[in-house]
Amino acid sequence: MKKFVGMLALAGAVALVLTGCASGGTTVGGGSTAGSGSGSDSSPVKVGFSQVGAESGWRSANTTSLKNSLDDANGFKLTFSDAQQKQENQIAAIRSFITQGVGAIVFAPVVETGWDDVLKEAKDAKIPVILEDRSVDSDPNLYTTRVGDDFEKEGETAGKWVADTFNGKKANLVVLEGTTGSSAANDRTTGFNKAIVGSDVKVLDSQTGNFTRSEGKTVMEGFLQKYGKTINVLFAQNDDMGLGALDAIKAAGLTPGKDIQIVTIDGTKDGLTALSNGAFNYVVECNPLLGDQVAAIVKKVVAGETVDKLYLAKDQAFDQAQATAALPTRQY
Ligand code: AHR
Repeated sequence: MKKFVGMLALAGAVALVLTGCASGGTTVGGGSTAGSGSGSDSSPVKVGFSQVGAESGWRSANTTSLKNSLDDANGFKLTFSDAQQKQENQIAAIRSFITQGVGAIVFAPVVETGWDDVLKEAKDAKIPVILEDRSVDSDPNLYTTRVGDDFEKEGETAGKWVADTFNGKKANLVVLEGTTGSSAANDRTTGFNKAIVGSDVKVLDSQTGNFTRSEGKTVMEGFLQKYGKTINVLFAQNDDMGLGALDAIKAAGLTPGKDIQIVTIDGTKDGLTALSNGAFNYVVECNPLLGDQVAAIVKKVVAGETVDKLYLAKDQAFDQAQATAALPTRQY
């Protein structure tokens, strides 16, 4: 209870300033009509949370944040499901939450497309769906709200750093993309490409590393075999793929951060450590600590209150000195 009362204050304490983007408010359910598990003053709110998987350090921090905020002490009964990066597992989990009659469904969609049917089923059952982290391309009337990060802006910040760093110099770039079809990968690519238009940066290659360390390493090995020392800069769409690439770069006899400059997205402790050590050159933050905000929104929605359609975390970016300064208090 104590934890729930202090939710918004806590959100401030972790420097997660979330902004409601008023693209039209949404009211769902209306008290006890929002499924049988919507809770009351005395009974906990039953919540089903379908998580993408455990592919990255970011994801683990996000899962911990959600589990801590949607816990018994805060008035929830959480059912957690790990989809292991598979859409069919998420669809099955959501159907099971509907059958269980939960009060709300929280779900981090692995990919952007293919959710219409299951979202319609949740709507027909009057169960509000809160998108957490990534977005979907479905009709916005099929879900209540999204709490996440601005992926396009993250990509744009990374691209701007590359364009500025190589201003007036020709540079060959390779990209480690996130999971194919995910909004995180799609939007980061859009933002990045926008920012490098008109620069002398040439994209030699761009392939998915599925947001994992191991695939980041494997794909970087392939890039190095193909392009060797002509690569000047790597854009890894998350820290983990960048960290995997470090092994490949060192094994090729090159020095990461010097022979190949590296920009990544997330800002995990491991990513900021690599930046502080000079192996990475720039890191754009993507805040995974969304749990308190999601919990507050779920409570409002099941109480029949109106919420905004989109809540975006404010993210920052780090150079080496900023990473060194941030590390001692970094939470994830
Ligand atoms: O959707 C957010 C992205 O997913 C994070 O950048 C990445 O690390 C995670 O796997």
